[in-house]
Amino acid sequence: MLLHLDASARRDSISRRLSQSYAQTWRAAHPEKPYVYRDLAADPVPHIDEAWTELCDYVLEHQITDISRYREAVRTPAQERAWAVVEPLLEEVVAAEVVLIGTPMYNYSIPSSLKAWIDQITFPKMSLKGRSFVIVSARGGAYGPGTPRESVDHQERYLRDFLSGHFAVDDVTFFHAELANARLDPALAHLRLAHEESLATALRGVSEWAAG
Ligand SMILES: Cc1cc2nc3c(=O)[nH]c(=O)nc-3n(C[C@H](O)[C@H](O)[C@H](O)COP(=O)(O)O)c2cc1C
Repeated sequence: MLLHLDASARRDSISRRLSQSYAQTWRAAHPEKPYVYRDLAADPVPHIDEAWTELCDYVLEHQITDISRYREAVRTPAQERAWAVVEPLLEEVVAAEVVLIGTPMYNYSIPSSLKAWIDQITFPKMSLKGRSFVIVSARGGAYGPGTPRESVDHQERYLRDFLSGHFAVDDVTFFHAELANARLDPALAHLRLAHEESLATALRGVSEWAAG
């Protein structure tokens, strides 16, 4: 199953274009496999609440690492409501063979809509080992190796560290379309061609990767 998430607040969005391209190619290559789509910007998941933290604390205290047993943590009506939000999100990510995330860089990091999804689905000592994550992103600037802003890329860095550090996911692939601000900012007009090249390279890489 391919779980496809988008997080851009824009509809006319570069990260959506990249994720759409991946999803189309993957689905054509695997017509028999299910596909689930979530638009985290248009249809946001709520922030975790106090009842959610009670579920989380119970799972930790009782050393529940089997996701199918998390339901045991539900004891109150508020926890029941929190679980009603979490359960379908967890089912989707557990069922996924590939998790595709289309995300912009916002303020050196990820949009809060994506962070809200991560907060909802993350429990202590939870493993998602064996799944592939494909992250397709758009950024206003450039953050590649050797650039002055390399050290403030908390988008790739955060996702990579969290997926491997918490979920034991080692199969994570990133594609970035950079310098998107050159489309808008007259001061960056000289970088428009570089942006177009970055986008074309990302689009090519994404569809080759999706085709396997
Ligand atoms: C709220 C907001 C914050 C942003 N922060 C950054 C940033 O920190 N660094 C950067 O390079 N670009 C930043 N940008 C530019 C976006 O990354 C760029 O517009 C990108 O194309 C957004 O992805 P999208 O086209 O999929 O919406 C920001 C844009 C917005 C709207």
